[in-house]
Amino acid sequence: MEYQSRISTGIRGLDTMLNGGYLPQTANLVEGAPGCGKTTLGMQFIHEGAYHRGEPGLILTFEQFPQQYYRDAANFGWNFRELERKNLLRVVMSSPEVTKIDMESIGGMVTHTLREIKAKRILIDSISLFEQLGTGSVELRDLVYSFINALKRQGLTILLTRESSCLLGEDTNTQNDSNIHFVVDSYTMLRYVEIESAIRRAIIVLKMRGSAHDTHIRQFDIDSHGVTVSQPFEGQEGILSGTPKRMTESFIKAFVRK
Ligand SMILES: Nc1ncnc2c1ncn2[C@@H]1O[C@H](COP(=O)(O)OP(=O)(O)OP(=O)(O)O)[C@@H](O)[C@H]1O
Ligand SMILES: [Mg+2]
Repeated sequence: MEYQSRISTGIRGLDTMLNGGYLPQTANLVEGAPGCGKTTLGMQFIHEGAYHRGEPGLILTFEQFPQQYYRDAANFGWNFRELERKNLLRVVMSSPEVTKIDMESIGGMVTHTLREIKAKRILIDSISLFEQLGTGSVELRDLVYSFINALKRQGLTILLTRESSCLLGEDTNTQNDSNIHFVVDSYTMLRYVEIESAIRRAIIVLKMRGSAHDTHIRQFDIDSHGVTVSQPFEGQEGILSGTPKRMTESFIKAFVRK
């Protein structure tokens, strides 16, 4: 029996997929193609903690200016400025080089900010640039591993976003591969899928250490309230290829419908 408390993502359908939410003090990767909703999902996770659960959050970004988060969050009805005033949120823009030095020495800016607000959640948006710091994949793996561990030691539950370069189908980019998928505790993939000449969004939890999880590929949407996860794609096969085929009636009869 499992009674470990869970860290809600703020997305009910995703919490269900994760058997209640993330496990505390774990590193959780959300990977996906450009524009598919990684930052939105991450902001929702931070908002859920700061606004609903008294768990302050830090957004660490290497690419976007903080103003962009305030603006985008406001579009979903999340008042990040107010949360910042109440010391429940900080948005920090840094460079991977500075963050690395920061994490290696006590008293760096990130560490200071985490302590200042007693952060419980951190969104790193995205880890992709950070991964370009190392030269070889062994060095890179060590770097990401110690970065994640330093955050866990401070009691944080981590959500990392990562870009995958392909729009549809399999990601073939193996450059700067830090093997991050092996390092993290959970791995969720966001995909675009073409079905009947329309593009839809798909979400799948590929791994979750120490926990059962949903293995269905589900559809998700982004609207004025953020991310909503809905039903699994039915009657389709090859979703992860990006261009699924409708299953034949005999296949559905034999294997899908009971
Ligand atoms: N208020 C909104 N209502 C509906 N859809 C929205 C809204 N705001 C954003 N979106 C959708 O979300 C997408 C962008 O989401 P987001 O920035 O989270 O993606 P991302 O994966 O982080 O992108 P990137 O790879 O550029 O960092 C937009 O392309 C748009 O389709
Ligand atoms: Mg983004």
